[in-house]
Amino acid sequence: MSHIITTHGLSKTYRDRTVVRDLDLRVPEGCVYGFLGPNGSGKSTTMKMLLSLVRPTTGEVRIMGRRMERSTRRDLLRHIGSLIEAPPAYAHLTGGENMRLVQRLLGLSDGQVRRAVQTVRLQDHLGQRVSRYSLGMKQRLGIALALAREPRILVLDEPTNGLDPAGIEEMRKLLTHLAERGITVMVSSHLLGEIDRTAEVLGILGRGRMLFQGTRSELFARSVPDVLVDTADPDRAAALTRRWGGVRDGAGVRVPGLDHATTADLVARLVREGVAVYGVRREEQSLEDVFMDLTGGGGL
Ligand SMILES: Nc1ncnc2c1ncn2[C@@H]1O[C@H](COP(=O)(O)OP(=O)(O)OP(=O)(O)O)[C@@H](O)[C@H]1O
Ligand SMILES: [Mg+2]
Repeated sequence: MSHIITTHGLSKTYRDRTVVRDLDLRVPEGCVYGFLGPNGSGKSTTMKMLLSLVRPTTGEVRIMGRRMERSTRRDLLRHIGSLIEAPPAYAHLTGGENMRLVQRLLGLSDGQVRRAVQTVRLQDHLGQRVSRYSLGMKQRLGIALALAREPRILVLDEPTNGLDPAGIEEMRKLLTHLAERGITVMVSSHLLGEIDRTAEVLGILGRGRMLFQGTRSELFARSVPDVLVDTADPDRAAALTRRWGGVRDGAGVRVPGLDHATTADLVARLVREGVAVYGVRREEQSLEDVFMDLTGGGGL
């Protein structure tokens, strides 16, 4: 798999506070990469370093295999469109006027602007002032502005923030559509649910460190299911399994986070002690649970 964005040992320290620590990003080409983490975990800082808006304290950024530095910066940034924090449009101008400003600034063709506007489906709203746009329309205009130069990479910081469920769904479809066209989309969110099904690869940050990077199924493989024991004597079973964290749950006992070997030990113990076991079930965690476990639940 070829990686279009990589970082090696990327860190950012403000005064004496390290807010991004030793990050090795691997963003595969042509996918939606979901960059997740609680508020303050360092997502925006990392994205700004990828875009050369913030200077890394240590480490390096590579775009398409080339190291980002003074001499390559201009050339590499031509391949990246971005939307960082607030939508970048002028509110007192119309959508169309904003597009024309960017067109002139970057020397783009009418065709490039038209295609970008059609991709985000704003063609019928170009005559309207941006101050009258809904938040979802503003976000889409921001993406059109970033798309117009036909970049290979889009870096979007929380484009779903504040959108209603329909707006979020529309944004998901747009991101998937862009990736199908071969554009690599790196998108951040502090809410797993907003992008987890859209993103093929996830990077999860916690306090500036990468806690997990890989596919959704690789993340699922990390989950440790609860074990549920059906028994005639739940009180005794709970007492016997207490050292593994067993507690009564309805007519049975729930023991959190057990691997296979420990589950076997636990069942053997119950049987040895003469507790009648009717059934043992493993309850898979949701992706949300795995995410919470990884990030410690902070702000999520
Ligand atoms: N210019 C700065 N000077 C000092 N500290 C900063 C600066 N920019 C960011 N920080 C701190 O770095 C940490 C990470 O911030 P960052 O904005 O990267 O997080 P985030 O993951 O994008 O959070 P959110 O989900 O709230 O957008 C925060 O604690 C923030 O206060
Ligand atoms: Mg942020």
